[in-house]
Amino acid sequence: MSIYSKRNVWCAIVLYFALVQVVIGETKYCLKEVDYCFTITLPQANETLVNFRLEAPSTAGWLGVGVGPGMDGYLMVVWITSEGKTLLSQRVGEEGVQPMATDQQADLNLTNSTIVGDKLIIEFTRPLKVKTNTIKNKQTFAYAYATINPESDDIVNVYLPRHDYRGNVKLDLEHGDSELQYDKLIIAHASLMSSVWFVLIPGAIFIARFARNLLPTTWFKLHVAIQLFLSTPIVLAGSVLSFVAAEGLKFDDPHRIIGFVLFLGFFIQLAIGAIHHHLYDPKRNGIPWWTKLHWWFGRSLVVLAAFQVPFGLKLFGVTDMVYYYIYYIYLFVILIAFSFLSFRLWNRRPDNEFKRMEDS
Ligand code: HEM
Ligand SMILES: *[C@@H]1O[C@H](CO)[C@@H](O)[C@H](O)[C@H]1NC(C)=O
Ligand SMILES: *[C@@H]1O[C@H](CO)[C@@H](O)[C@H](O)[C@H]1NC(C)=O
Ligand SMILES: *[C@@H]1O[C@H](CO)[C@@H](O)[C@H](O)[C@H]1NC(C)=O
Repeated sequence: MSIYSKRNVWCAIVLYFALVQVVIGETKYCLKEVDYCFTITLPQANETLVNFRLEAPSTAGWLGVGVGPGMDGYLMVVWITSEGKTLLSQRVGEEGVQPMATDQQADLNLTNSTIVGDKLIIEFTRPLKVKTNTIKNKQTFAYAYATINPESDDIVNVYLPRHDYRGNVKLDLEHGDSELQYDKLIIAHASLMSSVWFVLIPGAIFIARFARNLLPTTWFKLHVAIQLFLSTPIVLAGSVLSFVAAEGLKFDDPHRIIGFVLFLGFFIQLAIGAIHHHLYDPKRNGIPWWTKLHWWFGRSLVVLAAFQVPFGLKLFGVTDMVYYYIYYIYLFVILIAFSFLSFRLWNRRPDNEFKRMEDS
């Protein structure tokens, strides 16, 4: 198998886009449920105006963005009248009651309102600092989306129908959404590392241990192919992601120390596997030490990796115990499967001696 095979080129392309896609960030937040996104851009150079760009389905009733969490901050509301006019209203509210128009309507300037296909695009500006409110570099914004149109062309006395979706999001306007970007990097890192350490590597180990009778000779090809062509690129990608998120190597936390050990250990294990294969003697009687080392070193790595998840969740600040419990249940299931299959393997030996089938 050459490195230039078609499959490897495709793997490289997919990996490249998976990495680049999580690295690019903007000061943008999207409400996935309704495809409502807003982008907030701080003043450039000697300008003083903050630019707001809202994108939503053209069927939206009204769209809201608030500076500060919840409804009692500085609220900006946009809707389109039945004559097709775009109205922008500045309001202030109290949690749970109808937000009222203020005397600061002049803060806001609508700069664009376009419908492209079934998408509505609204742009407006507001000075960074206004009478009652200043937008900070790291700022929480409230957002709201309503499907019912206010059916009014009075930006002061309009009655806003209830929103269907609302929430808050903190954006880092100065550095792009680097906080969100950090989260994205870590979530991608955790998904890749979990899939490789708790699905692929144990899968390849199970195949080498339990599937020898079922898949004579194929088991070996599978074991090697999984570890070389799936586990290796994913371990590399997962490590790059954590390295980028952490902005370098750090050894100030058990997760980071164990992670580094696992990274080295993984490649040492590949090397021991290669040595075993190179020195393999089909007529052997007895199992050489390097082969045993490959078993025990491999098992130790997976056991060590099992500690990474609670440490990683803690480092990421996950306090919801559900994630820990799901993980412990998963570990328990793997352990039961391993014990059960090992027991069957052992039981099937004619002399009840725990010896594996010789590889073919
Ligand atoms: C299971 C196999 C895993 C391995 C081998 C692994 C490996 C690593 C390594 C080597 C680092 C250090 C990067 C550096 O400091 O340069 C790291 C960081 C990190 N990993 Fe993992 N990891 C694994 C799973 C997970 C899981 C399941 C989570 C859960 C969220 C997680 C969350 C994190 C976090 C939060 C960091 C810190 C990034 C920072 O320094 O800010 N990891 N990991
Ligand atoms: C910014 O300042 C420069 C000169 O310092 C000026 O030429 C330019 O027009 C200014 N830009 C804006 C948007 O005011
Ligand atoms: C809004 O736009 C008008 C016309 O372009 C301009 O005169 C006014 O100063 C702008 N207001 C703010 C607060 O930027
Ligand atoms: C308004 O926004 C649309 C879509 O982004 C864009 O094509 C158009 O050029 C904008 N118009 C103005 C005046 O900025």
